[in-house]
Amino acid sequence: MRVVRSAPELQLTGVVGLVPTMGAFHAGHVALFRAARAENDVVVASLFVNPAQFEEQSDLAAYPRDEARDLEVAERAGVDVVFAPPAEEIYPPGFATWIEVEETGAEGAARPGHFRGVATVCVKLFNLVRPARAYFGQKDAQQAVVVRRAVRDLGIGVEVRVQPTVRDADGLALSSRNARLSPEERERALGLPRALQSAVGAEDPVAAARAAMNGLSPEYVELLELGGATVLAAAVRVGSTRLIDNVIVKGELS
Ligand code: PAF
Repeated sequence: MRVVRSAPELQLTGVVGLVPTMGAFHAGHVALFRAARAENDVVVASLFVNPAQFEEQSDLAAYPRDEARDLEVAERAGVDVVFAPPAEEIYPPGFATWIEVEETGAEGAARPGHFRGVATVCVKLFNLVRPARAYFGQKDAQQAVVVRRAVRDLGIGVEVRVQPTVRDADGLALSSRNARLSPEERERALGLPRALQSAVGAEDPVAAARAAMNGLSPEYVELLELGGATVLAAAVRVGSTRLIDNVIVKGELS
């Protein structure tokens, strides 16, 4: 596995699958690496903690970083190239061009500026890496919707593949933020996947999920269209940790 820091070093040949990441790898990332491995000649994982998608400097500073461990995980999962650029490679001095998708749902409303940062870095990575396919997790459903929208609207030749959410045995969706939960908070956080799951099949899934939140007060509960699937998505705060999750209520991911 090669680790490269600049775009000219990428030197890729064959069909490339890109997994954009911010590191702190867990089994959800590994599932994306494996999916990319199965469908492409070359698997590239980008590892870049994107400052433009954080609203709070403190959140950016607190983001978990352990490159040595991430490189081991990536190598074991069959990644060929880790692209870990410094910030100036993505945002050179004088950078002034942003991708703004105008419809970003309740998640976008809750995090002003977040999806502008996500869409911009993804388009930049697509231009530098030139993948045929790019892999995203269903857990960040609104992110996948936004990236697909940018790709479609701007005619970017990348297939955006969305892979099912990976969960711990207790049902909590894997996230680097879960490490911040105390044992008591983690127990309360389980109310989120349970409420969403209990609403599958309900006539009004939004109302059913809200009614089942068991003491959690959701920032939002909404339905999203993601490829061929209708997804019931919600965000909650447990202590100081913000968690998002979603389940498919109709159709299949495509
Ligand atoms: O999901 C993430 O880790 C990030 O939002 C992404 C897609 C790597 C863009 O920085």
